[in-house]
This record gives sequence, C-alpha cells and structure tokens, in this order.
Amino acid sequence: MSPRISEYPQVLFKNRVPGETVLIDGYRTTGGYTALEKAFKELDPATIRDQAKRANLRGRGGAGFPTGIKWSFFPADQPGKKYLVCNCDEMEPGTYKDRELLRADPHQLIEGVIISAFALQTPVAYIFIRYAFEDCAANLDRAVAEATAAGYLGKNILGSGFDCEIHVHRSAGRYILGEETALLNGLEGKRPNPRSKPPFPAVRGLFGQPTTVNNVETLANVPHIINHGAEWYKGLARTLEGAGTKLFGLSGHLERTACFELPVGIPLREVVEEVGGGVRGGRTFKACLPGGASTPYLTAAQLDTPLDFEPLEAVGSRFGTAGVTVFDDTTCMVAATLNLIRFFARESCGWCTPCRDGLPVVAWLLNKIESGKATFDDIDMLKDQFRNISGRSFCALAEGAMGPVAGLLNHFEQELADHVIKGRCPLKKK
Ligand SMILES: Cc1cc2nc3c(=O)[nH]c(=O)nc-3n(C[C@H](O)[C@H](O)[C@H](O)COP(=O)(O)O)c2cc1C
Ligand code: SF4
Repeated sequence: MSPRISEYPQVLFKNRVPGETVLIDGYRTTGGYTALEKAFKELDPATIRDQAKRANLRGRGGAGFPTGIKWSFFPADQPGKKYLVCNCDEMEPGTYKDRELLRADPHQLIEGVIISAFALQTPVAYIFIRYAFEDCAANLDRAVAEATAAGYLGKNILGSGFDCEIHVHRSAGRYILGEETALLNGLEGKRPNPRSKPPFPAVRGLFGQPTTVNNVETLANVPHIINHGAEWYKGLARTLEGAGTKLFGLSGHLERTACFELPVGIPLREVVEEVGGGVRGGRTFKACLPGGASTPYLTAAQLDTPLDFEPLEAVGSRFGTAGVTVFDDTTCMVAATLNLIRFFARESCGWCTPCRDGLPVVAWLLNKIESGKATFDDIDMLKDQFRNISGRSFCALAEGAMGPVAGLLNHFEQELADHVIKGRCPLKKK
C-alpha cells in the first residue's frame, strides 16, 4: 500500500482490521463510549444538536442535507412518541461504505445512535438494514446486547433519566427502500412507495409520529464530534467549506478497489492516482461516477476537482455517497449508462409515470444506440426523455437515474453520434 494512504487521518476506520469485528472491550480501549458519557453527564440535548450544526456535518446518505439543520426542525422538546431511524439499506451501485463500517466497528454506530437519540429525545430508535447484510445485522444485535449489559442502553441511561431502546430491523431490501419515506412505509409493514412531502418525517413520520432518518455514516460521526469538537471536525476537510472525513468506495478500472477513509475535499486525481493506484493496466482515465450511480460523470478534464459537495456541484455533478467508479478508455459510455439505467428501471416502484414508463424508454433507446441500430432522431428522443423525466418524478429515484444520462449527454455526445454514424459501437473491435 502506498505510504501516503496510511497518512490520511482515520476517524471512522481507526479501529478497522480487515476481517475482524471490534467488540465492546476493544471499542472502549480506543475511547469508545467516552462521547456518550460526556453527552449524558456534561451536555444537554440542545447543545448536542448545536454541535452537529456547528461542525457542518452533512448527511452521508446521498443528499448531503446538513444534519444539524435537519435536527433543528425536529420537535425534540414536544411530548409524545418520536423516533430516530438509521438508514442502512445501501443498494446504490458502487456504494459499499455502510456495510464496511458495520463489519468493522458496530459499536461506533450504536454510540452515535444513542447520543443522537438523546439529542432528539427519541426513546426508540430503529436501524433499518437490508437482509443481504446479515453479518452486519448480527454484529449490531451483539453490539446492542453488549451496550445494554454495560448500561449504555435501556432505562435511565447513566442516571440521566433518559431511556433508549434500539431495534435492528431486517428489511426485505429493494433500492427504493433507501428513500426515507418508502423506508418508513416498509418499516410499518406497508408497500414501500415513497410518501408525499410535506408533511416531512420530522412532522409526520413513522407511525404518524415525528421521525428523523439518518444514514449510518452520518450517525457514526456524532461521537467523534462530541469528543473532539466542531472546529476539529471541520479541520479534517481539505476544503474551507467542507467538514470531516468521508468513506470512499472505489470500484471499476483501478489498480486498487476498496473502501478508504479520506478527507472531504481530496482531489479526484489523488483518489485515482494515489489511493486507487492509477487506472488498471496503465490505461487512460476516461470518466468516473464520483458519488454513486446517480451522479453525473466527470471526465479527465475534471480530475483536479475537490471531492466535496459544492465543488462537485460547480462542475455539474454531485458528491452523493462518494462511491467512485472509474472507467478506462476501453469503456463505451453508452453501454455503461445503459447498464445503470437498466438497474434504475428495474428498481422503479412504479408509482409515477415519468419513472415507471420513462426509464424503460431510456433503456430501450440506449440499447438501440449501443447496438448500432439508431438514427439521430433517437438521440433527439433521448434528450426529450431526459427533459421529460428530470424534475418531474415523485421521488428522487428517477432524478438520480438521470444523473449518468446528463453526464453522457454533456460529455459524450460525439460518442453517441459515432454509434449512429458507424452503425455499431465504435469501441468494439469489428
Ligand atoms: C432511491 C433512493 C435510495 C436511497 N438509498 C439510501 C440508502 O441506501 N441509504 C441512505 O442513508 N440514504 C438513502 N437515500 C437517501 C435517503 O432518502 C435520506 O436522504 C437519507 O437516509 C437521510 O440521511 P442523511 O441525512 O444522514 O444522509 C436514498 C434516496 C433515494 C431517493
Ligand atoms: S420516481 Fe416515482 S416510480 Fe420512481 S421510485 Fe420514485 S415514486 Fe416510484
């Protein structure tokens, strides 16, 4: 491994040993549960919520919504039932960070959930996990039992008067279940169609009660912010506006593909060349998805972009989940996009027309172009479909599906045209 990789500050992965899971004793040896003790003995819920805001912690589930602001909408001081739900559906192609975190260090999430539940005054928390991650769910079951036995969960935690229980809910698992309101329907045992917003979950969420939904990685950051403070957290990032580290899942045509914890704002070039060991076989970088399958492609011209929310939006893409999938110069971007759109079309919940009917048409058009049977009218129709779907779907699934199509149309229009002109994929050998 490049010596540079070992120099990146490790916060979420500091206890990670590949193939091993840290139990409660090991977790406590490296400072585990000291943030919880501090939160319950020295801080009040409003101060914890404020810390998340000052740290500029942004949601790691894909949308990047500022966590402290989300928590400030939550009626924490209102009496009655309220819930915290942790989202571990993680089915976005190219994204595999939450499962890595739970395989290595489940107590980190448990501590984050308990502190966040205290901050939001939600005595019941659910961790919603896809059935495919049975090893992670088993780790969580054991961590919940260990934390309960240690007095960190249950009644009157550390004499604070606050009770908290955590339920690990194994979900049947589909991509749409990651959308927070579909997830709430799934948790209630209903068909997981997304709900209309407003009302937002903070007003009417699980079982009609105020609910906050946060991603695994988001909540795992909370103990570290409580222990070390907002300024320390912001200082971990390479960009002025950014904060913290990020778990980057590398995949595709790189020499080294694994999940790495890297500073927010690290340039894409450093991720590809240093961390990923360069494009496999010494080939040339053609494009990448910087933040999972629903983000627009970046090209070689954008290799110096810092991987953070604002800089990526400035170049027409998104930070998303920081699942970086690299494509080398042998890749047909039409075929790559077709592969992604087939996934999104299959995962559509079927509720709204632009997604249910539009995505199969986009897949059909891309297939026609890729197989060399299309005319320029088909490329125009693809652009039409893109306009018809963008901004018109009931939830963000179809909007996300248009991410790679936007990248294809913006950066690879000539490659689309070459398929029509040559009557075949220009990248395939004759
Ligand atoms: C189709 C779709 C799938 C999603 N999948 C996930 C997921 O697997 N995990 C996740 O945390 N967020 C996912 N999200 C985002 C959630 O709706 C929500 O924004 C997130 O859980 C909020 O947590 P955060 O603010 O901590 O990021 C998905 C959104 C959409 C539209
Ligand atoms: S965009 Fe519409 S059809 Fe697609 S998943 Fe969302 S609600 Fe369902």
